[in-house]
Amino acid sequence: MHIHKFEKIWLIFGITTLIVFLSVIGVSAFYLGNQPPSCLATINPEKVDTTAPFNEPGLKKVEGKEWDYELVFVASAFSYNPGQVEVPKGAKVKVIATTKDVIHGFQVAGTNINMMLEPGYISEFVTTFDKAGDYLIVCNEYCGVGHHMMSSKIEVVE
Ligand code: CUA
Repeated sequence: MHIHKFEKIWLIFGITTLIVFLSVIGVSAFYLGNQPPSCLATINPEKVDTTAPFNEPGLKKVEGKEWDYELVFVASAFSYNPGQVEVPKGAKVKVIATTKDVIHGFQVAGTNINMMLEPGYISEFVTTFDKAGDYLIVCNEYCGVGHHMMSSKIEVVE
């Protein structure tokens, strides 16, 4: 069969384009599949107290990031550390939390922050506190006899 030279060039061009296209899709899928969501960051639950940033729970100003502050919480049966914290109104805050023992909840009443804290994993949530006031943090995962006593408070101040 005789294929015109011109057609042949376009056929090769077409196949080459297809191969490049499929490679790009394949490579992207590969990278996307290998990028763990932030909630899958891991930590040794027995070394929480000595692992940054959990060795210093509380609010810390940060530079050069997409958020202004990092607010670190450590949960354990049956409390949160810190038990109370002040946050400036309007600040963009990354909440970073984990647990030292069992699964705990981390729900901030009146906001859309609602995380599950699992031993060995780091939970993160970026938010801006636009309204001044007190925000109660409660544990919404049953964790034992002191479950109902677990709470902390974020005070958003002007
Ligand atoms: Cu901690 Cu329920």
